[in-house]
Parts: sequence; C-alpha cells; structure tokens
Amino acid sequence: MSPSTPRPAEQPNDLESFWMPFTANRAFKKAPRMISRAEGMHYYTTEGKPIMDGTAGLWCCNAGHARRPIIQAIQAQAEELDYAPAFQFGHPKVFAAAARVAALAPGDLDHVFFAGSGSEAVDTALKIAIAYWNVTGKGSKTRLIGRERGYHGVGFGGISVGGIVSNRKFFGSLLAGVDHMPTTYNREKQAFSKGEPEWGGHLADELERIVTLHDASTVAAVIVEPMAGSTGVLPPPVGYLKKLREICTKHGILLIFDEVISGFGRLGYAFAAERYGVIPDMICFAKGVTSGAVPMGGVLVRKGIYDAFMNGPDHAIELFHGYTYSGHPLAAAAALAALDIYREEGLFERTRDLEPLWAEAIMSLKGEPNVVDIRTLGLVAGIDLIPHADGPTKRGFAAMDHAFHNEGLMLRYTGDTLALTPPLIITESQIDELVEKVRRTIRAVA
Ligand SMILES: Cc1ncc(COP(=O)(O)O)c(C=O)c1O
Repeated sequence: MSPSTPRPAEQPNDLESFWMPFTANRAFKKAPRMISRAEGMHYYTTEGKPIMDGTAGLWCCNAGHARRPIIQAIQAQAEELDYAPAFQFGHPKVFAAAARVAALAPGDLDHVFFAGSGSEAVDTALKIAIAYWNVTGKGSKTRLIGRERGYHGVGFGGISVGGIVSNRKFFGSLLAGVDHMPTTYNREKQAFSKGEPEWGGHLADELERIVTLHDASTVAAVIVEPMAGSTGVLPPPVGYLKKLREICTKHGILLIFDEVISGFGRLGYAFAAERYGVIPDMICFAKGVTSGAVPMGGVLVRKGIYDAFMNGPDHAIELFHGYTYSGHPLAAAAALAALDIYREEGLFERTRDLEPLWAEAIMSLKGEPNVVDIRTLGLVAGIDLIPHADGPTKRGFAAMDHAFHNEGLMLRYTGDTLALTPPLIITESQIDELVEKVRRTIRAVA
C-alpha cells in the first residue's frame, strides 16, 4: 500500500480507559476527534478524512509528518540497539545528537543534558541552576524567577515558575522561593502587532525591582520563554530580552530560555536566542528536536556551568540527576534525521522568508467577528476572540471542534485564543487555504 493511500484503521470501541491529558474528556468521548494516520501537512481521521495540521501536532512536527528519513532512522535504530542506559554507559548516537544540537546553539552553549520531554528539560535546568551555585560556593542563591502567563510544562518546578493560573491552582503550595515578573502583554498598547511589539521593553525593569526585593545573593535563575506560546502567543517586546540579559549579568543571575517551542525553526532560526542576539546561560528544548517523532527533551548549558561541576575525583558522579530515557537511542536517531532534514531543506531559513507573507495572510482576519487581537511571529499566530456570553473558553473550544469536524483543520485554543503553528513545510497556497478555513471557523462560532 502506498503511503498516500488511506488505510482502514481500527476504531477503538472503549474510549473510557484513557484519561486524556489537557482535554475535556467527556466532550471528546461524546464526539471524538480521532486521528489514525499522518503524512506531510495532513492528518487523517479513522474514516480517512484529511485534516490540515495547523499546529504541527503540538508545536513539534516541524518537518511535517511521516518523513521517510526519520522513519527509516527509527526503524534502523530499533533493529540495531533498542535501548541502552545513559547512566555510566553510552551509545554513539546520543553523543552525535548532543554535538549536532550544540553546533546549532549560539555562543558557548556547548553541552547538552538530555531528558525525555520539555517538562523534564525545565526541571533539569532549574536543578542545574541551583546546583551550580552550590558547587561554586554560593549556596544561598536558590530563588527562581519566572513570569506571569509563562508555561514551562507540568512538573512541580515548571508549574511553580510558570504563570498560568489553572495549571497552578489545583496543586498545592508548589516550590518555595519563586517570584514572577509581569506578563509582557498589553492589548491597548500592542493590538495587531506583527512580530515584536514596540511597546513593553521597559517591563524587563521589573526584574530589577524583584532582585532588589530579594537581593541577588538569594536568586539563582530567571526563566522565560522568549515567545510565550502556550498562554496564547505573546512575542517579546523590542529590546525586552536584551534587557533581561543585562540585568542577569549585572547581578550574577543565570538566564534560562525555555525554547521548547521556539527552538528548531519555529521563529526562523535554530533558537530564538539567535533571532534576538541574546545568549542565555541555558536553553531548554524538546519537541522539534525529533520533529515530534520520538519523545526527547534537553538542556543546552554554557561551558562554564558544565566545567564548574567537573571537580572532585574522576570516579565520582558530578550531577545526581538524569532519566532512564535521557538520550534514548530511538530519540537520538530520530533527532539526527530530523536535524538533517532541517538543514537539507533549509526549513529555518524558509520560515524566515515566509514570515512576512504568513503575517499578512493571518492579519487579513482582522475585522472578522469577535476578533480583538492578532499576533504573529515566525510561523506562529495567536488570534484572540471575545469570550462567549456563557463564559471563557466556550468559543475557543467551539472553534477547535468546528474546525476539525467541518473544515478539516487542526487548530489549538487557549482560553479564547486560537493558536496556529503549522509544520515549517507549509506552502504559500496552503497558508491561504489554512487562513480561509480559520476565517470560516471564526464566522461559524460568532
Ligand atoms: C515553553 C514550554 N516549555 C515546556 C513545555 C513542556 O513540554 P512537554 O509537554 O514535552 O513536557 C512546553 C510544552 O508545550 C512548552 O511550550
């Protein structure tokens, strides 16, 4: 059977057992949005209906779906070496993958600690930050500073530094010693900005205020997404990230960029750090590193941080941290193949070239019913809709459900913000098609 021929897939007859993550389970189980196959820019339902992928899965399938080199790399790796522990043992591809990721990073971000997901990457970075100050004799530096509306996955570290209320309020007291900078979003000043908004760079000064309050001698690290994604797409204001870097450097505080979604081409560069000319001390990554094909996350660490741990006797473990699946062979093989595709097809540069056309096409939705703001950056868009009279999230949910069933489009929503982040292989005509699907969806849920 050729890869493009839809195959009949098994319809599961028991939807009850699986407790679906970040999902309205009861609504889904009444009217499932079931996907059984994917290729290129499309998913296919169990009935074989194509669904345009407007979200690269969950911001991860940057090279598109079912890419032969990635499939073949995973298959070959499974034949050769299914699993090998990364504690005290190694396998060649994990070293190769680390070197390839490090080569894409700016400055001396040249060591990679692998994890299994973005959430694990974030917890890893936070732990390395605190441990770094410990091993360098500044053990009082333990505080972590995040930002309102930030998303850093779902581990206790990540939700503590994160700033999305629903992700925090059910889970107790979280980590102690965490503070938050204000969000950079202000609709009045920024509405319908393409790229980085002009207003808001000064909000980085809030970090100075927080550091003064706690004293730099207690602060380990600041963590931000260069572009806040999961909260609804908030590009950084002009100059904001540079200012954060300056303040962190001045006070001896580590700066962590969470690039789990902004990495691997989403903003037209390997990492947003390059786009903004700002070198953080650590970069968290995941998702696009394997184009979503096998779970993998990791942290890029500057040389000085790695070196600080390389002390004591040679036989001693330097960092008591790691995961069974840190650098899993299948993930390492998938990463190498995905990085080859990005390079060979120039997908990062392509994204840069497409950005103005994408922004223009998405901004044509201004004036559609209930649209109160649109933000674009790289191949990303956030579209804010006025909430339904019955309460927040209802219109967002209705749009996602309508788009799937009636327009054959996968989109994401956060609250009443629609988020679009297609695979980086999207063509110009597919951008037009996607925008028209979104337009009809917005009208349908008005
Ligand atoms: C910025 C950011 N950090 C961390 C994560 C968590 O990644 P994962 O779901 O792989 O744990 C995400 C997921 O969307 C993310 O967007």
